[in-house]
Amino acid sequence: MAQQKKLYIKTYGCQMNVYDSERMAEAMGGSGYVQTDTPEDADMILLNTCHIREKAAEKVYSELGRLRPLKEENPELKIGVAGCVAQAEGEEIMRRQPLVDLVVGPQSYHRLPGMESRARNGSKVLDTDFPADDKFDALKQRPRAQRGPTAFLTVQEGCDKFCAFCVVPYTRGAEVSRPAGRILEEARDLVSRGVREITLLGQNVNAYHGEGPDGSDWSLARLIRALDGIDGLARIRFTTSHPNDMTDDLIAAHAECEKLMPYLHLPVQSGSDRILKRMNRSHTAESYLRLIDRIRAARPDILMSGDFIVGFPEETEEDFRATLDLVEAVEYGYAFSFKYSTRPGTPAAERPQVPEDIKSERLQRLQALISRQQNEVQRAMVGKRVNVLFEKPGREAGQMVGKSEYLHAVHVGGAQLERGTIAPVRIVDALPNSLAGELLPA
Ligand code: 5AD
Ligand code: SF4
Repeated sequence: MAQQKKLYIKTYGCQMNVYDSERMAEAMGGSGYVQTDTPEDADMILLNTCHIREKAAEKVYSELGRLRPLKEENPELKIGVAGCVAQAEGEEIMRRQPLVDLVVGPQSYHRLPGMESRARNGSKVLDTDFPADDKFDALKQRPRAQRGPTAFLTVQEGCDKFCAFCVVPYTRGAEVSRPAGRILEEARDLVSRGVREITLLGQNVNAYHGEGPDGSDWSLARLIRALDGIDGLARIRFTTSHPNDMTDDLIAAHAECEKLMPYLHLPVQSGSDRILKRMNRSHTAESYLRLIDRIRAARPDILMSGDFIVGFPEETEEDFRATLDLVEAVEYGYAFSFKYSTRPGTPAAERPQVPEDIKSERLQRLQALISRQQNEVQRAMVGKRVNVLFEKPGREAGQMVGKSEYLHAVHVGGAQLERGTIAPVRIVDALPNSLAGELLPA
């Protein structure tokens, strides 16, 4: 057994990066590393990065700048860049920041232990391949410690949609679905270690089509139905979905699978058909609205969430108003909105850009509408009974916080509850970022 060393991982971006960071920490456990929360006492620092917007990508370089004194103090410290910036910028990172020892793309994480030992021997190491072997197979772990009540599980990676603004098809590669048997095995293992809620992850998760244990092609709906049968697993979620892959069987699963939670993140990006076409989204605003009608017919209480981009190249005031109209029509429980950010190498980067001040002004208007809607949806919860999966103690003494089935953060006072308990709660107040509740008799 190698001598124990400390690994500090900083994770940026999406939930898949959170999942990947856990896998990397486990892989490095085999090389004698334990995780630490403080970069100061680390023997290795890994930044797991995001490339989705310019700001996210730039954070890496400012963080690397901040790490310089640590490296000067401890020349044995190894610094690695993982994730989508690693994939997109590769050697450029080492050129811009010579203190970086290794760069590893998202498809090569299983090779990290070998890379680390080469870096220990003084080499600069880079791996941004898309290897044919399954990294998750190689990352499969020995039985592991007890977990918290919620977990992510990657079922699908990559994207073949090529929206004109998006780097994901380049950084994460083509769509690949993991075999269903492996996913079920991982889910059972998570449940045996205390997990009660699993969120299935994929850049295009509802396009999942993995090999089933019987050799046939399984859809996401089929996979969810199989997960629904796992004893001890209480909740299933999935994210992120594309409107064009919301099949009838997946909509039906929302009506039929008790464990599938009534929350759906379904990005539309714009309400203008002209812009949607230029974005290469291959759906219209109207087809999206009709789809939501069908989803709500299956599960009337479902809480919808979405993503929006404002200031996409050539977006006019009229196009933008169509986005506001769509938001008005949907009534989102949550929505995330971003200024269009030019990503080198994507088709939209070459087109006439909307001025920054107009983007900012539109973002403000959209966010005002969205937060009004979110608040209304939260206020409408007051008086309702929800089930809360309690995750941790709250800020005040005796308080516990958790999530309702609609993914609202809910806190209750004076509750003697174990982490992982699911209990009925009456919502008594809506605060800006959470709901206050009272425990009900089970
Ligand atoms: N600029 C701004 N937002 C973007 N997104 C993806 N690419 C860009 C970009 N170039 C947003 C989309 C996507 C979310 C994850 O990030 O709304 O759904
Ligand atoms: Fe990016 Fe999502 Fe479009 Fe794929 S479907 S290109 S991940 S925005």
